[in-house]
Formats: sequence, C-alpha cells, structure tokens
Amino acid sequence: MTPLFSKLKTKKIQQYKFVLILLVFVVFIFISYEPDFGYLDTIHELLSIVAGEPINASFPIIFYQSAYVDYRFDPPRLRIFTLNKCVKNTQFLLADLHFNGDNSAPVRKNIYGKPLEGNCPSPLPPAVPCVYNSYQFSIGLRTNEDLKKVTIHLGSRRVDFNVQKIFKKTTKGITVCLQPVYYYSQWQNIVLYIEAWRAQGATRFIVYFHSATKETWRTLEYYRDLGMIEIKPWPSFPSLPIDIADKYPKVDDSVYINAYYLAMNICILDIKTTLGTIADFDEVMVPTKGRLLDYATKEMKGTKVGALAFDNHYTSFTPRIDTSNFSGVASPKFNFYSGPYKYVFNASVIHVAQVHWAASFTDSSMRSKITDGALLHFRYNAEDRNGTTSEKNFRFFPDDHSTHIKNIEDTAHKLFNGVMPTFSSKSNDALQECVNKVIPVEDKVCLSTSGICKAEMDKVNDWVYAESELLFLVAT
Ligand SMILES: *[C@@H]1O[C@H](CO)[C@@H](O)[C@H](O)[C@H]1NC(C)=O
Ligand SMILES: *[C@@H]1O[C@H](CO)[C@@H](O)[C@H](O)[C@H]1NC(C)=O
Ligand SMILES: *[C@@H]1O[C@H](CO)[C@@H](O)[C@H](O)[C@H]1NC(C)=O
Ligand SMILES: *[C@@H]1O[C@H](CO)[C@@H](O)[C@H](O)[C@H]1NC(C)=O
Repeated sequence: MTPLFSKLKTKKIQQYKFVLILLVFVVFIFISYEPDFGYLDTIHELLSIVAGEPINASFPIIFYQSAYVDYRFDPPRLRIFTLNKCVKNTQFLLADLHFNGDNSAPVRKNIYGKPLEGNCPSPLPPAVPCVYNSYQFSIGLRTNEDLKKVTIHLGSRRVDFNVQKIFKKTTKGITVCLQPVYYYSQWQNIVLYIEAWRAQGATRFIVYFHSATKETWRTLEYYRDLGMIEIKPWPSFPSLPIDIADKYPKVDDSVYINAYYLAMNICILDIKTTLGTIADFDEVMVPTKGRLLDYATKEMKGTKVGALAFDNHYTSFTPRIDTSNFSGVASPKFNFYSGPYKYVFNASVIHVAQVHWAASFTDSSMRSKITDGALLHFRYNAEDRNGTTSEKNFRFFPDDHSTHIKNIEDTAHKLFNGVMPTFSSKSNDALQECVNKVIPVEDKVCLSTSGICKAEMDKVNDWVYAESELLFLVAT
C-alpha cells in the first residue's frame, strides 16, 4: 500500500465516521424532539429526507386557506389541511417556511400528509369511491422559530398561506362545533339545542353552514344577532386549476358529505375554551346529574382523560317538537341503543377528531373514558329505532325545566311572530331518497351530498345557500 493510498483510505474512514456520528446525532435529536410521535414517525421523517417525490401541479389538491402552528405540541407542529386524491407515503409537499418576517431566507422542507380519517380511501363504504379526502400535512418546528408565512411549490405553481397560532386554553367553558349544516329544515331542534347546551354550560357555538330552509336560516340569524352563535360559511368547493380540471371530478361531486371531517377538525382549532364537543342539532350530552361543564371538568382535570364518551339514547317527545309544541321536552322517552358515542374533549389536547371518538391527542398518554351520562339523540325517526327503554331518567336541563321550556316557546314565537311554520318531511325524504340511490351503486358514485343531491334538493325547496368565500386555495 503506498503511503498516499493509505492516507486516502484513512481520510475516507474519517469521513464515514463523521457521517455515522452525524446520523446517530440526527436520530437522537429527532427522537428527543418528538416524544409523542414515536419511532415510526421519526423513521418516516428520516427516510423521507432520502426518498420521495414532490406533489406537482398535475395532482388534484385544494388547500384550506390558513396554515396552523400548533403550540399545544412540544415542539410546535405546522399543520396544513387539504382535500386531495390519496397520496402515497413517498409523496410530499415542497414547502418554503418563512421565519421572522421576509428578511431571512426561507427554509425548504418536505411535508408529508396523513388522511384525517386514518385511511385513504375511507373505510366507510359510501365514501370509498370519493376522489377527494381530508388530509393533514404536518411537520415539527423548533420551539424558538416564529413562522410567518408558508409557500407550497407544486412544480411551477404555488400557494401562499398565512399562519395562525394555536395555544392551550384557559377560559372555562364548552364550545360546541357543528358539522356543516346542509339541507336542514328542523328549526325546532335548534331552539331546543341552544337552550339545552347553554344550560349545560356551553358558552360558544360554531356553526358551519352549507344550506338550510328559510325558517332554519332565520333561526340561525336570530341567535347570531344575539351574539350566541357564529355562522361560518362552508360553501361549494372551488374548481381545480384549469389545466387539470377536466381530468378529475369536481370536488363538490366527489367528496364525502361536504368534507365534514375537514370542517370539524378545523373547528376544534378555533375553540378558545377549556372544553369542546362536536354535536349535531339533534344531540345534547348530559351527565346523570348536575351541569355537563362541571361534571366534565371534574372528571378530566388533572387526569389523563382527554375525552369523555356519552352513549347513544334515542329520545322522543310527545307531542313531537316538530309540531312546534315543546311541552313534551319535560318528559322525554329514551330508547337506549348502544353506540355510536359522541364525546366532550379537553380542547388543550385534542389532536384529530373523528365523528364518534377522539382519534388522537397532542399528548399520547391521554385517553378517552366512557361515562354513565347520555347522548340524548332526538333524531327525526327516533321512535322507529328499536332499543331497550332506558331505566335512567336523564334530563335536558340541570335545573328547573319549566323555565327552559318557556324560553324555548317564547323564542319560537318571537322568531315567527306567533305563526309557527308547520313541519313537512318533504325535504328529509328527498335527501334520504337521493342518499339511497347512491348506496346501491357505491362502486361508481360517491356519497357527496353537496354536489350530487343539489338538483334533487332544489326541486323540493327554495334553499338558502352559504355564500361563496375564499375558504380554499388552489395553486396558481
Ligand atoms: C408530476 O408527478 C407525477 C406523479 O408523481 C409524475 O408522473 C409527473 O411526471 C410529474 N410531472 C412533472 C411535470 O414533473
Ligand atoms: C386539559 O389538558 C391540559 C393539558 O394536559 C391540562 O392542564 C388541563 O387541566 C386539562 N383540562 C381539563 C378541563 O381537563
Ligand atoms: C301542547 O301539547 C300539550 C300536550 O298534548 C297540550 O296540552 C297543549 O295544549 C299543547 N299546546 C299548544 C299551544 O297547542
Ligand atoms: C322494530 O321492531 C318492530 C317489531 O318487532 C319491527 O316491526 C320493526 O321493523 C323494527 N324496526 C326497526 C327499525 O328495526
């Protein structure tokens, strides 16, 4: 071996040694940075630095307008929400992260995505053929980095995001999130819902709105003008960029039920109170006694319980409240039908929400707990459900019922100047018929109520639709 060769070899070993030490160091840093994300995520993120392909402009994707930096995670995580075709593990968004204003050079990152539902396509049969799925693209940041702007590059096209920061919550209260309200006609439910949830300690309502009858819209406006609820439009989705628009279905026609997974997961980030929940207009959660807010706070505070689950009780009234006679609310009948649950969660730790359970928490040591309270589900066809009659005597209000029922009646009178519109099942029937047509041909059509049912629904009523807003961005 010539001295020169030997010298080269030593140098090479030295180089590799350096790379090896560096790798070990990098792994160590990643692991110590992400205690809640586990080794798999760490390895995924490490591998992704070596392999993978950027998502480009020929890929069908639309972006929710804001990017979030979620400081409830330690270290904080950047989270970007999208609707898109399923992505492969190796595909990523190529992003420029602008820290501390425009002065310093942006940092380039590959950001990987996961379907909010856990799987893509969705495991729900009527959702399987949907092209567009709700996704979250996310990456850990360093604690001291102040992210100001994000730019995603899709080949020659780009999308710019503003950044919103999410923190742990300190204001005591419950915020109630509504999944997008669409083709809704049962305004009577809303009046009972607001009265009952407020009595249980709800302090704020965030109502995503797609469409409703004029009477329902008037009811929502009434509460909005009193400052009790916030109405957030969840209108039709935008078109894809023109050069790929004809290669894929319209988003409205191929997204499962108005992309409610996305709406509810964005809604929970907007919660500023300690507790939150996601409940439809015919669902109220109650403990066996006392107020929900006090009960849930006591059950969760200082524990590893991040969510409390309430079992389903179909609830009916005599007379039915859709006759605009609310006297039956004082003595509801319960039909116990185990599951699916709904839940109240600690808004400081919920990460991904599913409809019936908390899918993950920002702190992986958190868990859900089933309570002995009830989800009172006064569903349209509650009487037809066969369950066992519940022995328990759940109540909508923790205190005097007659005062609350009087409030409900007074509100209903005020809303319609004493002339209450009569209920017709026409709209509910039309929607059910449209949905039934979809299920038998599940391999071809996706249950996308906003798009495929619109023509049918426009025949039966004069709907109020959400006005278009620039809620979603497409690459330009
Ligand atoms: C865009 O991505 C697709 C799939 O990854 C690839 O087949 C195609 O060649 C890419 N197009 C361009 C212009 O890079
Ligand atoms: C929610 O979780 C946070 C963080 O773990 C905790 O400090 C807080 O006490 C919890 N709040 C409730 C109401 O459970
Ligand atoms: C509501 O229903 C109850 C029970 O059937 C009845 O006694 C009452 O008169 C009704 N109220 C109105 C305003 O019709
Ligand atoms: C409930 O039970 C009755 C009597 O057994 C039956 O006729 C009806 O079809 C059942 N309804 C449902 C929704 O299962």
